[in-house]
Formats: sequence, structure tokens, C-alpha cells
Amino acid sequence: MPYRSPHLTAVALRLRAWFLLLTLFVVGIRPGSAAPLTTLPTATIPFSSAEQTVRDAIRCPNQIANRPGGVVLLVHGTGGTGANSWAETPYIKILPNLDPGFDVCWIDLPDLAQGDIQMTGEFVAHAITLLALNSTATNGKLTVVSHSQGALDVQWALAFWPQTRGLVSAFVSLAGDFKGSLLATAGCKIVSLFNGGKGCTAATWQQATNSKFLQTLNNAAGLALVPTTSIRSLNDDVVVPQVGENASSVLPWASNVLLQDVKVCGPDQDVNHSEMRIDPGAFALAYEALYRASKAQGSRPFDQKYCKAYVSNNSGWTVMDAQRAIDQSMGNFRSFFDNTPVKSEPPIMPYAQAWAP
Ligand SMILES: *[C@@H]1O[C@H](CO)[C@@H](O)[C@H](O)[C@H]1NC(C)=O
Ligand SMILES: *[C@@H]1O[C@H](CO)[C@@H](O)[C@H](O)[C@H]1NC(C)=O
Ligand SMILES: *[C@@H]1O[C@H](CO)[C@@H](O)[C@H](O)[C@H]1NC(C)=O
Ligand SMILES: *[C@@H]1O[C@H](CO)[C@@H](O)[C@H](O)[C@H]1NC(C)=O
Repeated sequence: MPYRSPHLTAVALRLRAWFLLLTLFVVGIRPGSAAPLTTLPTATIPFSSAEQTVRDAIRCPNQIANRPGGVVLLVHGTGGTGANSWAETPYIKILPNLDPGFDVCWIDLPDLAQGDIQMTGEFVAHAITLLALNSTATNGKLTVVSHSQGALDVQWALAFWPQTRGLVSAFVSLAGDFKGSLLATAGCKIVSLFNGGKGCTAATWQQATNSKFLQTLNNAAGLALVPTTSIRSLNDDVVVPQVGENASSVLPWASNVLLQDVKVCGPDQDVNHSEMRIDPGAFALAYEALYRASKAQGSRPFDQKYCKAYVSNNSGWTVMDAQRAIDQSMGNFRSFFDNTPVKSEPPIMPYAQAWAP
């Protein structure tokens, strides 16, 4: 445990225990079940969101300044906001000034990403098409970094808006739950106990193992559609399991990296689900993917010294600073209870019916 703060209040601990119960995602879709490429969606589906609504949801704290590495879009997970997920992470504090320089933006997903992931994914698709136009330094292509459910939003976008596939030169997923979670169902039952049996949020239902949503996504696009790096941790306390044939973050044809691999950071790297956004090892791997996408011939061999300290350009902002910040931020935990509960997962959209189970 390289960096753990002992300063936890009783309330925070209790909230964390609930958060854990609610969101412990286990897994369950077979990697071998990826549909052959010939069945990839090809239709052009109009966006239902207004362009201005999507633009208003995008924030680029360091501006878009035509930095040579192009635009990086950060996509948060369930119950998060762009700011509480990313503001105090190396993706905002360090990445913009790393060689060759990046224009980093986050998006605030509708309903704290508690709503229908099909709609959230569409929102991300729309954002990619708009923001790619701002990525002039990299010829209209951008890169994407997601945390947790953000991976499903991005993969749904790439699956059903084919025009986005050519706009994303690298996709880095941190603790993405491509195969969902066995415990989402238990979490849903707990929320239901507290709201008089009204159910739980659509996104919670959809992230349950073998949900219709996940089966549809994996039938349509159960493999990497763009150069994808999926980074996972054995200590993930939300997306579980991360080992074995059903490891949730493993996506066929992606570069699937386990932080505890001896060739990466080794078995002592202790990183939970939330910490995946600030882990220096994960950041170094993500940076490598973004660097390669921005410089076609670029290659930065993984250096284990970056398992404990950030790849950085003298930012003076350290792992301890990031740790302190996430210890103080509980995210929008209440949204699991407060956001509109539903009795079952939303129906599969007409445009995706052909891939539904
Ligand atoms: C993950 O680790 C952070 C930092 O040590 C801690 O604050 C948080 O409570 C942990 N998350 C859970 C769900 O236990
Ligand atoms: C830091 O910035 C300098 C000058 O722009 C650059 O040459 C160097 O590669 C950068 N270092 C890193 C680690 O990105
Ligand atoms: C992206 O470019 C459009 C069109 O030039 C501009 O209106 C918009 O403000 C830019 N977005 C950001 C986040 O800078
Ligand atoms: C992986 O998932 C499949 C399908 O749900 C199941 O048959 C298999 O037993 C699982 N494997 C493990 C190791 O849990």
C-alpha cells in the first residue's frame, strides 16, 4: 500500500462501504463471443441531443490551444461529474504539459451517467464528432481516456456511430467494465430497499452481468474498434473479477494491461477502482498510448520508476496531492439512490435490435 491516507471519517467509511456494496461490479461475458467484424453496425443514426447541449457539457480547463498532441477527451464513470472525476488527477494537472503537449477536456455526462447508457453513449458519440473538429494539430483525430462505465459509453459510441471510429486515434480505458458486474444486481436490491421497491438507476441495471445492454454491446462490438488500451487492477473493489477468462476489463483485440503484472508494476501495486484515475503506473501506461497516437513513430518503453511517481514535467504536483484530493471527494454517491429509479433495464433501442439477445 504505497499511499493510503489514514484520515477517514466514520461517515466517509460508512458511505464507502455502501458505495462498495452498490457498485462492486463482477463480470460475465465470454471474450470468445465477440461478433465477427462483418456484423458491425454501419447505419447513420441522427443525434437526438442538441449540438449546443453537448458543447455546453464539455470543459477544457487548460483551453484548447492547438497543442501538438491534439485533444484528449476524458469520460467519467457512474455517479461522477467531469470535475469530481478528473480535476485533481494527473490527466488535468500533468498531461497538458507533457511532451508533445495535449489539449485535455472532460465531459459532464447527462444525469451523472446514471441514465440509460445507450443515451449516454450517444452523447459521447456526439461529443467526439464535435470535439474532433477542434483537434486540428492531430488532423481532426482525438484521443479518449475513460474511467469505469465511461468505457461502455465510448464503446457504444464507436459501435453505433461508425463515423466516430475514424476520429479516435487512441482509446484508453481505466478500470472499464466491458463485461459488467455480478454485484450490480445486489447493489440494485439494496437501493430498492431504501426507496420502497422503486428499483435502481438504469445504468446500474445495465452494468449487471449479462444484462441485455451488455449482450447487445458485445454482440455488436465485443472487441476493440480503435487502438485500445484497457488497464485494470487486481485490487479493483468495484469491477470484479479482474482475473481469469471473464476479467471485466479485458476486451479482445485491445492491449489489455494488468497493473500487477511483473512486467508492469508488479504484485505490490495496490490500486482500487477509484484510484485508477490517479495511479502513477496507470497514468504512465495511458501517457504512452496517447504519446504514440500523437507521434506515429513514438515509443516510450514502460519504466517502473513511474509506478510510484508521476511521469511529469516538473509540475510539482505529486501522488500525495492526488491522494489527498480523492480522499476528500466522495463523488456523487447519493445519485445511486436519488437519480430516477427504474424497475428493469431500459429496452434496447430500435437501431441496436439486430444485435440484441
Ligand atoms: C480506494 O482508495 C482510496 C484511497 O486510499 C480510499 O479513499 C477509498 O475509500 C478506497 N475506495 C473504496 C471503495 O474502498
Ligand atoms: C518536458 O518539456 C520539454 C520541453 O517542452 C520536453 O522537451 C520534454 O520532453 C518534456 N518532458 C516530458 C517528460 O514530457
Ligand atoms: C471548438 O471549435 C468550435 C468551432 O470553431 C468552437 O465554437 C468551440 O468553442 C471549440 N470548442 C472548444 C472547447 O474550444
Ligand atoms: C465465465 O463466464 C462463462 C459464461 O457466463 C461461464 O460459463 C464460465 O464458467 C465463467 N468462467 C469463470 C472462470 O468463472
